[in-house]
Amino acid sequence: MKTDEVRNKYLRFFEKRGHSIIKSASLIPKNDTTTLFTSSGMQPLLSYFLGKKHISGTRLANSQKCFRAEDIEEIGDNRHTTFFEMLGNWSFGDYFKKEQIEQFFKFLTTEIKLEPKKLYITVFVGDKKNKIPRDIESVKIWKNIFENNKIKAEDIEILDEENGGKIGMRGGRIFYYNAKYNWWSRAGAPDKMPSDEPGGADSEVFYDFGEDIHNKKFGEHCHPNCKCGRFIEIGNSVFIEYIKQKDGSFSRLPMKNVDFGGGLERITAASNSDNDIFNIDTISFVIKKIEEISGRMYADNKKEFRIIADHIRASVFIIASGIMSSNTGQGYILRRLIRRVIRFSDKLDILHGHLSDISKTVINQYNKIYSELNENKEKITEEINKEERRFRKTLEKGLIEFEKISKRRNISGNDAFILFTTYGFPIEMTIELAEEKGLSVDKNEFNKKMKEHRELSRIGAEQKFKGGLIDTGEMSVKYHTATHLLLRALKDVLGESVRQKGSNITSERLRLDFSWGEKMTDEQKQNTEDLVNEKIKSAIDVKKEEIPAKEVARQNIGGEFEDKYGDIITVYKIGNYSIELCGGPHIKNTAELGHFKIKKEESVSSGIRRIKAVLE
Ligand code: SER
Repeated sequence: MKTDEVRNKYLRFFEKRGHSIIKSASLIPKNDTTTLFTSSGMQPLLSYFLGKKHISGTRLANSQKCFRAEDIEEIGDNRHTTFFEMLGNWSFGDYFKKEQIEQFFKFLTTEIKLEPKKLYITVFVGDKKNKIPRDIESVKIWKNIFENNKIKAEDIEILDEENGGKIGMRGGRIFYYNAKYNWWSRAGAPDKMPSDEPGGADSEVFYDFGEDIHNKKFGEHCHPNCKCGRFIEIGNSVFIEYIKQKDGSFSRLPMKNVDFGGGLERITAASNSDNDIFNIDTISFVIKKIEEISGRMYADNKKEFRIIADHIRASVFIIASGIMSSNTGQGYILRRLIRRVIRFSDKLDILHGHLSDISKTVINQYNKIYSELNENKEKITEEINKEERRFRKTLEKGLIEFEKISKRRNISGNDAFILFTTYGFPIEMTIELAEEKGLSVDKNEFNKKMKEHRELSRIGAEQKFKGGLIDTGEMSVKYHTATHLLLRALKDVLGESVRQKGSNITSERLRLDFSWGEKMTDEQKQNTEDLVNEKIKSAIDVKKEEIPAKEVARQNIGGEFEDKYGDIITVYKIGNYSIELCGGPHIKNTAELGHFKIKKEESVSSGIRRIKAVLE
């Protein structure tokens, strides 16, 4: 089947079942600073799971443009793309597990005509610590469906990838996995969720492309979450019925919701029984174009072709949503994509200036569905050409610098760091160039430098505690921790949109600037103060944690981040209450703070308020 056909069948199928079809939201999230890009269909709909009424009713469906920056380094295999369309259907307190599972099975087997015996199912094993039960209800529904199709459906506990590789599927069809695999929230597993975040157990459907695909390098045995490429997840029904409380426990939402998401490209690949999603119509045209301009064959250079095709496709959609290359936020991700394309296109000896030709093929493929591509055609090709010219210019200078360094010595971490920050050399490129000359690169020192640099620029960019902690005397450290509590309390009282705009701390007081359009009422001030004092009284431990930047991407932590090298960054957590990217220092327990008092609340400039507060 063709991509348009699958998308169309899906939307008509759900329309017939009472769903209103809504437009894809922009790739750039509105009023939501938790992620740089829209990365699932449910993201723009979050408030409707919490009880807000949608004007189009309690059943919706669409095909949503999505981009996942955390997958950039994974591109190159048969099933990942950074940009994809997510087919979604939602029930806000309307139907639940039975109807959802049955209708999705029906869609796959009657509309897409997949054979039931090729479908394998995963479900949530439960979480004792958080008192979330095992999802036996979904298992029952699935068993029934398979039995009606004369297929034996045993349920087997696998839990995780490692165990799966060891024990294998043992004739099962329905498999229990832990929260890493079968729980969904924007922040990931239950323990990773911040308070007020909704989530729930999910049930995923995998398509089996054939036993012979398994490779023992991925584990002795194969199973649905094995990375060998035999099984590809084609749909995920999330049963959003929980919300995390401030004290870390889970309670039920007022209504039971369904959030389904399935990769359009993957379902199309399954419809063709071909496990390479780069072979579906919309992407294979892009692959053909790359063959044409490089004179090489896809079959011989799969990784390079996939990276180029994926990144150009994503760049086209990102530019069409109004983003230009830059050194921060979404613009930096775009820059990173285009620069990676250039690096891999050089490996294929593609002549300079031809990458924008590939973008034209992407535009032609999607133009009928996404009119913004044609409307922005010139902007898209120009931006790709411009970024290529910019990168090639610094690249030339960088190569001269590299030659100079490499004549004298191996490449130190600092050399690699300067090549990156001044000349835009991705570390992988420095390593490759060094290897060609038989030199080594100190990657550890480079990562350390990058980490320091990121922490500084991140804090700088956010003006987090900028110039705030003048000294690290005891009182200042206390005020520093109190500032984190205050920021969190302001978000609780005024809303999640509150952002820190600046901070200044002395041994006598704290001063916090934050985004808020109007004077706070006396009640709001009192509530904020009470909340901070409550947290002080609760004697909560303050903990420094080093976490991979990738994790930050999934958690609800303020600030822009960049997860390029899988490096480690520092966050401070005040129990489950507050989590901030921060270099410290902080006190050990909130009980040390005494009594918190707001002394003044005033305007600094339009949209920014300032609080001065003391500890007594
Ligand atoms: N939100 C779920 C996902 O992204 C299903 O839509 O997989």
